[in-house]
Amino acid sequence: MLQHPETKYRPFPPIDLAERQWPNRTITRPPIWMSTDLRDGNQSLFEPMNGERKMRMFRMLCEIGFKEIEVAFPSASATDFNFVRELIEGGHIPEDVTIEVLTQAREHLIRRTMESLKGARHAIVHVYNPISKTFRDVVFGMSKAEVVDMAVSAVKLIKQLAAEQPETQWVLEYSPETFTAAELDFSLEICDAVTAAWGATPHNKVILNLPTTVEVATPNVYADQIEWMHRHLARRDSVILSLHTHNDRGTAVASTELALMAGADRVEGCLFGNGERTGNVDIVTLAMNLYTQGIAPGLDFSDINAVARTVEYCNQLPIHPRHPYVGDLVFTAFSGSHQDAIRKGFAAQQPGALWNVPYLPVDPKDVGRSYDSVIRVNSQSGKGGIAYLLETEYGVVMPRRLQVEFSGVVQQHADSHGGEISAAEIWQLFAATYLDTVEPVRYREHHLFEHGAAQGIRLNVEIHGTSHLLVGEGNGPIDAAVHALQGIGIKVQVRSYEERSMGASGEAGDARACAFMEIASPENNADCYGVGLDANIVTASIRALVSGVNRAGLSLRDGLRAA
Ligand code: KIV
Ligand code: ZN
Repeated sequence: MLQHPETKYRPFPPIDLAERQWPNRTITRPPIWMSTDLRDGNQSLFEPMNGERKMRMFRMLCEIGFKEIEVAFPSASATDFNFVRELIEGGHIPEDVTIEVLTQAREHLIRRTMESLKGARHAIVHVYNPISKTFRDVVFGMSKAEVVDMAVSAVKLIKQLAAEQPETQWVLEYSPETFTAAELDFSLEICDAVTAAWGATPHNKVILNLPTTVEVATPNVYADQIEWMHRHLARRDSVILSLHTHNDRGTAVASTELALMAGADRVEGCLFGNGERTGNVDIVTLAMNLYTQGIAPGLDFSDINAVARTVEYCNQLPIHPRHPYVGDLVFTAFSGSHQDAIRKGFAAQQPGALWNVPYLPVDPKDVGRSYDSVIRVNSQSGKGGIAYLLETEYGVVMPRRLQVEFSGVVQQHADSHGGEISAAEIWQLFAATYLDTVEPVRYREHHLFEHGAAQGIRLNVEIHGTSHLLVGEGNGPIDAAVHALQGIGIKVQVRSYEERSMGASGEAGDARACAFMEIASPENNADCYGVGLDANIVTASIRALVSGVNRAGLSLRDGLRAA
């Protein structure tokens, strides 16, 4: 890169727009949407869609709710021409959907394009020519007057051919290509000439589509350009002002949103931002951005994954895992603090209340994504994500201090193994750490009995393959079991005890009760948790005690230690 880029590149000049209005406006309703997936999107593919892929995309666009769909560039390829014929002759176009086709402003191409539309009920003919100085001077060697004449002649020819096909309801769309790089007064001149040539009226509106063919400035500059046109157009009431943004600077969504505030009525774009170079604006993001402001976008992405898979199939291009609203990772948090906040947010979210879950701008459920994928765990994760997964997948609701203790175990595992840890792996670690501990003491069974006011227990345990019957008494079963364990030299205190019921789900099988016991031992001055699972709550608590004893690493009395 250059040390002095100013010698090669210059800043885009600001627009002279007195008292611009758009910064004070908000978007309160959706625009008219037009999908150009089958045209601009299709043109940009390594392998343009064949008829089967085009039809699949068309059907899905109709299902999503698009009422205007640019289906082809009929004069550019036989596939496109034939596709338009198939749509019309096969009766594939729903009554409320209007197809659109693109043509350059050249006579033979316009004739071929109009031919493709024979028999259509409604059609938008979209004609364009490049108008900026670079194109006039460098590419075509045309004067401004010649460029205007090219557009006007094309419009007159379309008008004449349309009159010869009266069975179709026609709408004209004109795009001054490279609008953002052109002089605004020249854009105005050519647009006014086009609407005059067509004879636009409020009942026969022309779509004027003002593209950022290539993004050349910040989004506020585009908004200024649109507001300037909106204010100066001769027949504003006879015009549908349309936006067609590309993403060269990565700001297509922002440009479109600001330009809608500036007075535009309509938006052209592609699903998930396919399109030439860096793509057309992503209509899904625009629609979902509206949705998260409480505005029904008029497009349905309730099953966003299904839409994504069809788009990937038709375009033969993958969608990035971090793509807004749809990427595989966008409803996933790896960072521990995020996971913690999300978990608390879900717990606090009341049915029917306004959405208020941290880090998630939209309820994943609304786009058909599940909560299951919300939290994933890797070495960056904290206790929140781990606790969330154990709770949602296995019904184990850990006490807070156990969350801290167990997150250390998971962290160690993640550090030594690397990569993401699935919910199933977390469960295995949990079971191995707390539930399956049998060394040195394996719980076998117990029987309770009453001894006057005291609770008695006969606790059968196995130590190094030998069965031992331990007897104790206390003020309850746990206390009795603590005393019984003294028979093998183990002295512990129960610091805290909690029990929770669980669903009969997952690996936990039929278990209904989960007991958590935090124990302390004078022997090594360490606190640690034990966990027990069982259909019976007393058994779960005694298992939890034995689990804690094993985890504390306490010594057995002489004669019981391993050889
Ligand atoms: O990006 C563009 O300018 C176009 C026109 C044909 C509208 O695709
Ligand atoms: Zn384009």
